[in-house]
Amino acid sequence: MGCLSQIQTRVRMLLARRSHEILAPVKITPTLLLLASLLGASLSAGAQQATARADAFAQRVAPCLACHKTEGMVTRDGYFPRIAGKPSGYLFNQLRNFREGRRNYPLMTYTVAHLSDDYLREMANYFGAIDAPYPPPVAAAVDKAALERGRLLTVQGDAARKLPACAACHGERLTGMAPAIPGLLGLPRDYLNAQFGAWRNGSRRAAAPDCMAQLTQSLTPDDVNAVSAWLSSQPVPANSHPQAMVKTPLPLECGSIAEVGR
Ligand code: HEC
Ligand code: HEC
Repeated sequence: MGCLSQIQTRVRMLLARRSHEILAPVKITPTLLLLASLLGASLSAGAQQATARADAFAQRVAPCLACHKTEGMVTRDGYFPRIAGKPSGYLFNQLRNFREGRRNYPLMTYTVAHLSDDYLREMANYFGAIDAPYPPPVAAAVDKAALERGRLLTVQGDAARKLPACAACHGERLTGMAPAIPGLLGLPRDYLNAQFGAWRNGSRRAAAPDCMAQLTQSLTPDDVNAVSAWLSSQPVPANSHPQAMVKTPLPLECGSIAEVGR
């Protein structure tokens, strides 16, 4: 994560511009600034008219874009996931997961620690509604056999090993299913690998039954590598929106779907 310090400097600059008047006397850390900026802005926004409120909201979430990308909100580099255009129920679940310790990334946890469900939902709706282009895919640095294995696991699964296809839940176009299942394309390979690591060691959890954690137990490190390499080397289709939820039962039950409603 060589660019982290750069990003932290950027968050600091972004936030310093907006919160120095509140925070000047105390020792200012980026996390403190982020939190204070969110809370400070939320107090003043209450009195404003509807359009002003929308502007204020955009300003309040501006610090999020330092990591979740400003320039058209597109990146395939490194570890920072895109949040623009993901299903809003999925985003809401994740914000709650950070708040309640089911996912761990200190700055995320700190940021949402004191925010209400209503506020988290508003942020989820805001980012979910953003329609921004995706960058071109990155060629995968693995051999052809691994790529093919990744493709087969994704689109077909492996019946002999009772592995469902990723596409059965993430949609035929792999762009997700609204409201709670995210798309799988346009995510950095490092981020994909890291999520499987987190499901395996229990540091990323969802409402029970946690289908992704369960599925991860059946995948070998080679499976994960192959799937991450293949997914991150695929272009995002022109229609990148999540599809509607299918009526048929999913191959495994996922508590996170029930959490936001089908
Ligand atoms: C310093 C960088 C940073 C800032 C600032 C930041 N995030 Fe994050 N965010 C991350 C990282 C890194 C992850 C992935 C953590 C992990 O692997 O679990 C993440 C994950 C997320 C996720 C889950 C994404 C997914 O696809 O599962 C959501 C939603 C999110 N952030 C929303 C926000 C919002 C809203 C804000 C502003 C209030 C914000 N973030 C500010 C770094 C940041
Ligand atoms: C039974 C349905 C189901 C199947 C099969 C499934 N997923 Fe998922 N997946 C989900 C759900 C539901 C979520 C949201 C979990 C949450 O809320 O944390 C998810 C989340 C994810 C995420 C998180 C994306 C992000 O932005 O952080 C990744 C990555 C992922 N799945 C990859 C895969 C891959 C790869 C496969 C195939 C090997 C697969 N999934 C198969 C249901 C499924």
